[in-house]
Amino acid sequence: MTASQTQPAVGMWEYAPAPESPDIVTIAPEYGLFVAGEFRPAGAGGTFATVNPASEQELALVADAGPDDVDAAVAAARHAFEHVWGPMPGSERAKYIFRIARILQERSREFAVLESLDNGKPIRESRDVDIPLAAAHFFYYAGWADKLEYAGFGQDPRPLGVAGQVIPWNFPLLMAAWKLAPALAAGNTCVLKPAETTPLTALLLAEVCQQAGLPAGAVNVLTGDGETGAALVRHPGVDKIAFTGSTEVGKQIAGTAAGTGKRLTLELGGKAANIVFDDAPIEQAVEGIVNGIFFNQGHVCCAGSRLLVQESVADVVVDRLQRRLTTLRLGDPLDKNTDIGAINSRQQLDKITQLSAAGEAEGAQRWSPPCPLPDRGFWFAPTLFTGVSQSHRIAREEIFGPVLSVLTFRTPEEAVTKANNTPYGLSAGVWTDKGSRILWMTQRLRAGVVWANTYNRFDPASPFGGYQESGFGREGGRHGLAAYLNV
Ligand code: NAI
Ligand code: MG
Repeated sequence: MTASQTQPAVGMWEYAPAPESPDIVTIAPEYGLFVAGEFRPAGAGGTFATVNPASEQELALVADAGPDDVDAAVAAARHAFEHVWGPMPGSERAKYIFRIARILQERSREFAVLESLDNGKPIRESRDVDIPLAAAHFFYYAGWADKLEYAGFGQDPRPLGVAGQVIPWNFPLLMAAWKLAPALAAGNTCVLKPAETTPLTALLLAEVCQQAGLPAGAVNVLTGDGETGAALVRHPGVDKIAFTGSTEVGKQIAGTAAGTGKRLTLELGGKAANIVFDDAPIEQAVEGIVNGIFFNQGHVCCAGSRLLVQESVADVVVDRLQRRLTTLRLGDPLDKNTDIGAINSRQQLDKITQLSAAGEAEGAQRWSPPCPLPDRGFWFAPTLFTGVSQSHRIAREEIFGPVLSVLTFRTPEEAVTKANNTPYGLSAGVWTDKGSRILWMTQRLRAGVVWANTYNRFDPASPFGGYQESGFGREGGRHGLAAYLNV
């Protein structure tokens, strides 16, 4: 599973293995829940294992939080909200949040290695994207904590109370940062439920909260599966629910929250169109297409999973794309030369495998570069489907894997119609030389984020979120504060 086992393209040189050492991070054999500033076992004593998806080796046991633990965590958060964190001046809260940001930077190597071990993503991505962006998020919202009255929500915007936050496995630390940083800055307290396959960086972040001297109960971390998440969402002591994950679970949560008075934001799936016009800089577009769908193994809600390419350049784009995919290295996530890491879980691998089989069965042409897969762990070769029609499942359903569906169009109107022909509406990409066409397109695309001549760019100051089945509410920027304030 080292880079040397990855097949180089014909005529290409091979890279020597360049593995990052896992020794930088100490993984305990067992982890408790983080409640009221302390780690403790689950009340009922249950545990479950988290594995390294690249090797299927068990990394650690983590506590499985039950309803009593949810009670305890919500009570701790309530106490902190009423007596410590809520009444604290914003300028004081900011100091703690800045401290968390700085410690994340100081311990970034540890976090990057742990994220890659638990999630399977390449170290190049955890090191250069996930961890720096998580720190940037805490820095950004720390800056807002003492300026809430200038955020445009009135003279004295008040926090909501206790936030119950449920996050997925694709960007474990980054999603924790997206949830915790604005909530804390606005004066709320938090109960965070990380995904069951990727709990370890959230638990290390809990340790960072201790290290930063964050008041007990301001942040609580409950590990567990969907049942733990459901118990948190149902809990009457929770004032605000923030969820990122599948549309299916998002709909269930919306049902549970309806009529309770709980505030809710949902960040769900996507099926984004990445649209390439014939006047686009093709080499640059090919890089953007690759980044759009193969970044993080395609486990990205805003992934550019539908390539819409103008018919006149479709052949040349597909040809260059195939050549580019032949150079991608799949293998050991800890190797600094790896482009494509492991699929996060067997369950997700099964889903990707099934949807790709459906693509073939429905008549699309499937292509992958020569790409031997390691014997152990969960892997899927980068995959391209051409001859895809809008009715195919691979053009409609979120695959959440390294699988790109290529469709063509002739006119800008047709591109817009096809791009918008989806129940989702999270993101889109437009590649063209003409500024006027970019503006024309962005006015017509029903998507929360539209990237022009780039893709998958994130910044804490920029709001992110969707339309329709992609959910509602915005995270990031000034807009992200509104979700945690009584405005
Ligand atoms: P999921 O929606 O089941 O899991 C996300 C989080 O919700 C996890 O922490 C999970 O424990 C929790 N959860 C599960 N059921 C819950 C419930 N009833 N109440 C409260 N919390 C609950 O997503 P899953 O099963 O991991 O992935 C399935 C598909 O969802 C993926 O193939 C992908 O298409 C999509 N997905 C989209 C994400 C996004 O960022 N938009 C993230 C993860 C998955
Ligand atoms: Mg894991």
